[in-house]
Amino acid sequence: MREKLDGKVAIISGSGRGIGRAIALKLASEGARIVINDLDTGPAREAVAEIRAAGGSAVACVGDVTAPDFAERFVGTALENYQGLDIIINNAGYTWDSVLQKMTDEQWYAILDCHLTAPFRILRAAQPHIGNWAKAEAEAGRRVVRKVVNISSVAGLFGNAGQSNYSVAKAGITGLTKTLAKEWGRYNVTVNCVAFGLVKTRLTESAAEEKTARIGGREIRVGVNPGLLKAMEQMIPLGHGGTPEEAAGSVYLLCIPESDYVSGQVLMCTGGLTGI
Ligand SMILES: NC(=O)c1ccc[n+]([C@@H]2O[C@H](COP(=O)([O-])OP(=O)(O)OC[C@H]3O[C@@H](n4cnc5c(N)ncnc54)[C@H](O)[C@@H]3O)[C@@H](O)[C@H]2O)c1
Repeated sequence: MREKLDGKVAIISGSGRGIGRAIALKLASEGARIVINDLDTGPAREAVAEIRAAGGSAVACVGDVTAPDFAERFVGTALENYQGLDIIINNAGYTWDSVLQKMTDEQWYAILDCHLTAPFRILRAAQPHIGNWAKAEAEAGRRVVRKVVNISSVAGLFGNAGQSNYSVAKAGITGLTKTLAKEWGRYNVTVNCVAFGLVKTRLTESAAEEKTARIGGREIRVGVNPGLLKAMEQMIPLGHGGTPEEAAGSVYLLCIPESDYVSGQVLMCTGGLTGI
């Protein structure tokens, strides 16, 4: 039986862990060939191995999405290994919180670089290829629909205390999504965004004691206070924080042919929360 994404090539940033990894596994299970990216080599390699062990195809492009040469390398990995690029998922990210008066310029720009500038550069690097393919396909009388899914957050839609940098970046990515949907419609590219609520990953796991992750050469605090986590879950109509697989399902919907006429949208994947 033909899989939904047979032969498609997908690049997914931050896919060594969490939601990105679940997206990679889901798309691969439907026949897509995957370029895994992560800052951390170990998780990236594990994700590649997991996809291959399940009979799928994947390669890794390890590196920091904020590096100036990263976008060309990421797109180049897809072209060299799979000679194409059909699906771009801008997912890599982390949080580095402070109330506004304590937020440093370094904190502000680090989060904007990761969640907003990096996706912009990746999409810009893909454009010449996508433009050329779309032209050639039109001349051959073929219509190939490609997909971009950017990852946002309820923080970007409603704001979240302590996250002015993150909220701005996640709001910005919705603007980039809507603008690019208008620019790339002529290439038959749908450009959408998924805004997550609470999804249980390293980013939001219950952290009774202070846990950190090394990101961009800095030790950044990760995890959420257990009491706060419980209170957040109680607000969710479906009664639980999402699993990475549940989160990945919403991204998958925007990658399959059934969503070929959906573009410029922000889909909330929140277990029913309509605001915070
Ligand atoms: N978990 C949630 O509740 C939640 C809610 C809203 C939005 N999001 C968004 O979902 C996306 C995925 O987050 P997650 O919850 O799966 O977190 P996660 O920490 O489990 O996974 C994120 C992955 O991205 C990688 N990464 C971080 N910075 C990177 C960089 N500069 N370059 C390359 N890789 C990098 C990390 O190493 C990690 O493997 C993020 O954009 C996040 O902001 C998550």
